[in-house]
Amino acid sequence: MRSVTFDASSRRWLLRTPATGYVVALADDDAPRCLHWGPVLTAEQAAGLPAPAAFGASSFDSTAGEEELVTEAGARFETPSLQVVFPGGDRGIEWRHEGHDIDGGHLTLRFSDRRHPFLVELHYRVYEDSDVIERWTVLRSQVPVTVLRCDSAAWSVPMLDGYRLSHVTGGWSSEHALSRTELVVGETTLTSRRGVTSHHANPWLMIDGGDAGEGHGEVWSCALAWSGSWRVTLTRTPSGRLSWTGGFGHEGLTWRPAPGEEWVTPVSAGVYAPDGYGEASRRWHDHVARHVLPRPEELRPVVYNAWEAVGFDVNEANQRDLARLAAGAGVELFVMDDAWFGGRTSDGAGLGDWWVNEERFPDGLSPLIDEVHRLGMRFGLWVEPEMVNPDSDLYRAHPDWVLHMPGRSRTLLRNQLVLNFARPDVADWAHKWLHKLVSEHAVDFLKWDFNRAFTEAGLPGDPDQDRLWIDHVRAVYSIMDRLRADHPHLRIEACAGGGGRTDLGILARTDQVWTSDNTDAHDRIAIQRGFSQVYPARVMAAWVTDSPNPLTGRAVPLRFRFHVAMAGALGLGGDLARWSEAELSEAAELVAVYKDIRPVVQFGRLWRLPYGVQYVHGDRIAVLAWRGPAAFGAPLPPLRLAGLDPLARYRDEDTGAVHHGAVLMSRGLPLDLRGDYASALVRLRAC
Ligand code: DGJ
Repeated sequence: MRSVTFDASSRRWLLRTPATGYVVALADDDAPRCLHWGPVLTAEQAAGLPAPAAFGASSFDSTAGEEELVTEAGARFETPSLQVVFPGGDRGIEWRHEGHDIDGGHLTLRFSDRRHPFLVELHYRVYEDSDVIERWTVLRSQVPVTVLRCDSAAWSVPMLDGYRLSHVTGGWSSEHALSRTELVVGETTLTSRRGVTSHHANPWLMIDGGDAGEGHGEVWSCALAWSGSWRVTLTRTPSGRLSWTGGFGHEGLTWRPAPGEEWVTPVSAGVYAPDGYGEASRRWHDHVARHVLPRPEELRPVVYNAWEAVGFDVNEANQRDLARLAAGAGVELFVMDDAWFGGRTSDGAGLGDWWVNEERFPDGLSPLIDEVHRLGMRFGLWVEPEMVNPDSDLYRAHPDWVLHMPGRSRTLLRNQLVLNFARPDVADWAHKWLHKLVSEHAVDFLKWDFNRAFTEAGLPGDPDQDRLWIDHVRAVYSIMDRLRADHPHLRIEACAGGGGRTDLGILARTDQVWTSDNTDAHDRIAIQRGFSQVYPARVMAAWVTDSPNPLTGRAVPLRFRFHVAMAGALGLGGDLARWSEAELSEAAELVAVYKDIRPVVQFGRLWRLPYGVQYVHGDRIAVLAWRGPAAFGAPLPPLRLAGLDPLARYRDEDTGAVHHGAVLMSRGLPLDLRGDYASALVRLRAC
């Protein structure tokens, strides 16, 4: 049951999700403070919480704390969430509460500055069927101001003995590497200055007291719904408090909203879980499925993508051959990757010239698309709308369309430059050709790629050019939204050189994410573990590719590769033309098995296990277990399952063996994983 209530006598608001509670109160100076974020509280319990503490023991201390948005006014020395400079030089906001609105699960707290005609709204939203609280900020000024920072929200947790931060780090082909580390006393910043979410960090975090595990301990977690540059700064004070503030943009940018303009931040979402990282993840997954994804109810199709098979050497003949083999293996969606257009025969030319390459496809794309449809598959195409190679007709015609600064060279990365989608004419051009492509070519699916970071992010002549960091992302969102509205059958995969654009913002208009360009099943286990902390299995695209893996050179059995990829939205990405008959037929069998467990994986709830994962959906359970390199004397213990009914019995659908829930969770499921890269899929059904 969700609810939002207000207690006028104590000036506090109580927000309730089905299993958690959140209390905001006004301090004597009207500053909004968090009094509670944790288990559900009754109205009486919320009213009994101590009033906002008076901070500041000495003339050097902060007088504020646990503020819902940290301003710069007065004795506040934390990382500001809101930095505004008014005409005449005044900085910060002196809070004056103006009122509130409650509309179902949506609470708006309205404030003004005590001296300047400037309004701040703090928004909160809770749902009937999610424990996630969404928050965002809206500014409106009647005078011209300079905004140096405007975060979506600041969050605080109760005082704990210690604070452990969980987050992900990485790089291209090593994204989503999970790190758990004790927070230092001081400030810790997680950020992307790349114009995109990034491989190097992802805008989510989890906090626990150092004592949580997969199945126990309190966890507080946050994620930002934004696909451009972002920053989150956590502050652990010497006096033992922890809070953080986060939002779009990185430090050093300035924005100048016009008088009267509404400045709206993206959503910062937060969730509390009393029993471990696993439950925090499941709460995120439920929320993404119920309130973020556009088509959560659809089973994600088994994809074939030929990128690893042919690279830039795409032509009609090889795509037809691969399509035939893919269909034979049970693939449902055939995606043609890079190099079908313009003069794109390597990464050195052609990006931006979005017409079919006539040498490679003399009769256009229709014969291939017809063949793919005839084979019973849907058809998808790779695009990279935000980019251009200097060696392209587009760039020769519009060299001013890219991000650039007049006195700086144009840095090339992967031989390409970034088109400035903050320019309406450029965004309009992109929307037009994408709309035409989808309309004219029976395209069911777009893999929307983004292969380089922003540099020289300028828009010469624009006095407010730092807006492009925001407006570019909004233009991408708007093009995707329009395409989906005009082509209801269209599905989109978000990709940025692998998983560089994975976040709640992009997931609101896409169906899945290309998780990583690293398809080595051994490496993927860790990548998928990091990915699964917040993002659900149904959006985690996972291909089975060749062995040895083209990137790492590691050889692992086909079965193991399948069993790892089956933990997400399964696809094939190898050079099927080089697979033996035996491999193709084993692949077809494993694809069929995946289709059987697909609803369990894609719609089920996830439990991460010591060397595998378990999905539970209704009375069905799918367990995927993986063993890495074997070592003598180090046998794997039986795999202890979790989240089952201890009193229920579960029948192994393949062997008929019956197990007791209590035994599966205490002693474990016996698995005979022998040899390097042994793996197993166990299908259980409650009986
Ligand atoms: C990067 C993507 O991650 C790959 O899967 C592939 O689409 C290439 N770009 C194509 O250039």
